[in-house]
Amino acid sequence: MMVRKGAMFIRVRTVFLFWLLIQPSTSLSLDPEKTVVVENGLEGGQDLFFHCKSSDSDLGVQQLHLNGTFRWRFRVNLFETTLFHCIFQWEGASHSFVIYKAKRDQYICNVCSWIVKEEGPCMYFPGNLNCYNWYS
Ligand SMILES: *[C@@H]1O[C@H](CO)[C@@H](O)[C@H](O)[C@H]1NC(C)=O
Repeated sequence: MMVRKGAMFIRVRTVFLFWLLIQPSTSLSLDPEKTVVVENGLEGGQDLFFHCKSSDSDLGVQQLHLNGTFRWRFRVNLFETTLFHCIFQWEGASHSFVIYKAKRDQYICNVCSWIVKEEGPCMYFPGNLNCYNWYS
C-alpha cells in the first residue's frame, strides 16, 4: 500500500513537472496579473509616442495626448525575467527605458502607474512620485 502511494506520488509529480515544461512561460505564475499604466505628463503639452516590447509581445507604437493613458496587462513568468523595454519619443527627443522589470517591480506594484516627463519617467503612488533617469 505504501509503495503504491509512493508510486502514485511520483507519477503525479512527473506529470506536474512535464506540465511545467510544456507551458508557455507567460501563462505560468502564481503571482497575480500585473498592469502597467503609462500617462503623458510632458510639461510642454506634446503628444508622446512610445513603443514597448517584451521577449514575447510587441505593444506597437502608441500615441498619447497630454494626460492620456495607455495600459496593458500580463503575468510575470516563472523565472521572473519578465521585462518590457520601451522607446519614448516626442518632438526633438528620443529616450529608452525599461518600464517593467519583474525583479525591480513585482513586489512594488500590481498596478504600476507611470507618468512620463521630459526629465524621465516617474512611478506614482498616492502622494508620492518615484522618478528615474532615462537609460539613454
Ligand atoms: C493635464 O494634467 C495636469 C496635471 O494634473 C492639469 O493641470 C492639466 O490641466 C491637464 N491638461 C489637460 C489638457 O487635461
